[in-house]
Amino acid sequence: MSRIEISGLSKSYGSRSILSDINFSMEEGEFVSIVGASASGKTTLIKMISGLASPDEGTVSIGGKRVDGFPVGAAIVFQNYSLLPWLSALENVRLAVEAAFPSYTAREQTAHSQRYLEMVGLGSAGLKKPGQLSGGMRQRVAIARAFAVEPSVIFLDEPFGALDALTRVTLQQELASMCSAVTKPVTALMITNSVEEAVLLSDRIHALGRGPGATLSSGFPVSIPKPRAASLLHDKKAIALKNRIGEFLAAGAKPSRRIIEAASQKSQTDVAMEIA
Ligand SMILES: Nc1ncnc2c1ncn2[C@@H]1O[C@H](COP(=O)(O)OP(=O)(O)OP(=O)(O)O)[C@@H](O)[C@H]1O
Ligand SMILES: [Mg+2]
Repeated sequence: MSRIEISGLSKSYGSRSILSDINFSMEEGEFVSIVGASASGKTTLIKMISGLASPDEGTVSIGGKRVDGFPVGAAIVFQNYSLLPWLSALENVRLAVEAAFPSYTAREQTAHSQRYLEMVGLGSAGLKKPGQLSGGMRQRVAIARAFAVEPSVIFLDEPFGALDALTRVTLQQELASMCSAVTKPVTALMITNSVEEAVLLSDRIHALGRGPGATLSSGFPVSIPKPRAASLLHDKKAIALKNRIGEFLAAGAKPSRRIIEAASQKSQTDVAMEIA
């Protein structure tokens, strides 16, 4: 059982309140996204939920057990890939597989790692080092590494934030198919600054307001059947949902300089959603 319960989380840095009384829960197998503007406290929040940082107040429990350190059976994907540069793509995945499946023989660990690289379309790039891979390929390795340990919970902190819009769309679809391809249910919590990305992938979305002392909206369920194609974002239902989330994010918020600057690199609708 991987039900996640987040109760009364608050965090300040010095005298500055970042997050205030964050409460929500996730059912086993659910895909939940948190959307919010830059510097609203998203990474701070996912670090506390994944046990990588301590809250000032509040608790997190997974499967009824209080989180204290990174949970066993969980995996995390960061925005900046976080691969070991001196290891090949296959070795990066294999390192995690060795730790997760110590009873496998060396040959089984390699075959298992290779299978997950193949699932993200990198079956023939296993010998390449991260420096020889594109950003999109590196992020595929990071996703393969996370899923290869067959986690019950996966944390994703803006996994596609560093990618161009086209690569981002492809990887969103790959992530969705990885989630549905796994044999046991994986509970996924994703942080993103794109409302559209959240709508494409999630069962439920929470919006994080602006600080100081940012609070979380109640959940917006995404009742659109999966798998979802990017074209679905133009459906009435999806547009209405994006507008409702946009309204929460816009309340009292001004678009940040970073988001305005990002407009030159992204599709206008996506950026409009982020600003909204
Ligand atoms: N270790 C720290 N010490 C002091 N302040 C911090 C620390 N970590 C984060 N902050 C501050 O907390 C605020 C929230 O940071 P956080 O990284 O959680 O934002 P974010 O929503 O993830 O932003 P982005 O979308 O840019 O990644 C920022 O103002 C940041 O400067
Ligand atoms: Mg962040």
